[in-house]
Amino acid sequence: MALLIRNIRTLVLAHPGSLSPLRGDAMDRIPLVDGAYLLVRHGKFEAFGQETPEALAELRSRYTIGEEIDAQGGLVLPSWCDAHTHTVFAGSREQEFVDRMQGLSYQQIAERGGGILNSARRLRDASEDELFHAARERVLDAIRMGTGAIEIKSGYGLDEASELKMLRVIRRLRDHFPIPVRSTFLGAHAVPAEFQGDRSAYLKFLTDTLFPKVADEGLADFCDIFCEQGYFTADETFQYLSKARAFGMRPKVHAEQLTRSGGILAGIKVGAISVDHLEYANDEDIKALADSTTIPVLLPGAQLFLGLPAPPARAMITAGNAVALATDFNPGSSPSSNMNLMVSLACILYKMTPREAICAATINAAAAMGIQDTHGSIGIGKVANFFVTSPLESVEAFPYFFGQPLIRQCFINGRTLSSLNI
Ligand code: NIG
Ligand code: FE
Repeated sequence: MALLIRNIRTLVLAHPGSLSPLRGDAMDRIPLVDGAYLLVRHGKFEAFGQETPEALAELRSRYTIGEEIDAQGGLVLPSWCDAHTHTVFAGSREQEFVDRMQGLSYQQIAERGGGILNSARRLRDASEDELFHAARERVLDAIRMGTGAIEIKSGYGLDEASELKMLRVIRRLRDHFPIPVRSTFLGAHAVPAEFQGDRSAYLKFLTDTLFPKVADEGLADFCDIFCEQGYFTADETFQYLSKARAFGMRPKVHAEQLTRSGGILAGIKVGAISVDHLEYANDEDIKALADSTTIPVLLPGAQLFLGLPAPPARAMITAGNAVALATDFNPGSSPSSNMNLMVSLACILYKMTPREAICAATINAAAAMGIQDTHGSIGIGKVANFFVTSPLESVEAFPYFFGQPLIRQCFINGRTLSSLNI
């Protein structure tokens, strides 16, 4: 039995064969089909094309069509891939938000013991079940807003029991949800109180004690570190991630968010799958990214929320980078898991074109989480995670109506959310 979506104003990112992350100019040339149909079968994309009477007759003779949906002139897009989140956390930090409204900076709040260490104190007190139930609701919210794959980091535990607790929660989320959930070990998110003043002892504890345990239980796909003034240096980033590789975790880096700290170059040197944030990236970094396969992931939610300067997105695209977008959903710097908003913000704040931003939030973001062969576009044979929007006149109208609830219906594995029991 097949599912037929008809009357699609524009079908976005549909293609036969495979699709690599798109770099530079190519980001603005995503495949589009106007006046399209889409056929889904066995949870995968089966066929697409221009909707003509002949094409529909041919489909009906070839397939048993179990359900037909009239998109009523809406767009159909592949589900977003949110390649950078901190979705598992305990409690929220709106008091720090208010403190910032009154003039304190993110760094000043962290220096007073707020920020990541505030979240760590609260997470240590929360049970695995409490964390799981709260995070499950958050992932559900994200799926309802069009996300069809998500990466989630640890990094609010900062001790053995609590980091492993976070990673086990992420594993439970992976087992619970019918979307890809990728796990990242971010023990090196900050130096916990117990190791204050002895960063290298903390890093040694992470590499010698925690890496083997994380690897033994198969708890992490990736390993990340906050390369930043006051956190970890570029040298430490390189050494630490080299060791992570030996334990089968692919590197990622929180890089150049608050200052230029050399995280991009360290990440590229150690073969990182992505380097993320990048507000302070410079020309040398952009050139190095152009010569590598490392994906630069921009996080407009955090940049806006903290009032940081915009990353050099246009220069990156001109230089041929494969720019990606993600939410950075977390309680300190980006309390939003709304990828639709990130796509609009990338246009408004970074001057990315709507097509570039959509490319960055789908196929390029899929590459930042290693799932580009199965997700991130409407490729024939790929997993049918997609959504239908309200009637819109063009692809450009989607980010233009920023913050509007434009998604009419989401599909995961070719099924509506209400039929999934999640
Ligand atoms: O991605 N930059 C470091 N980590 C997070 C923020 C964590 C927090 O404030 O809780 C980020 O912005
Ligand atoms: Fe982050």
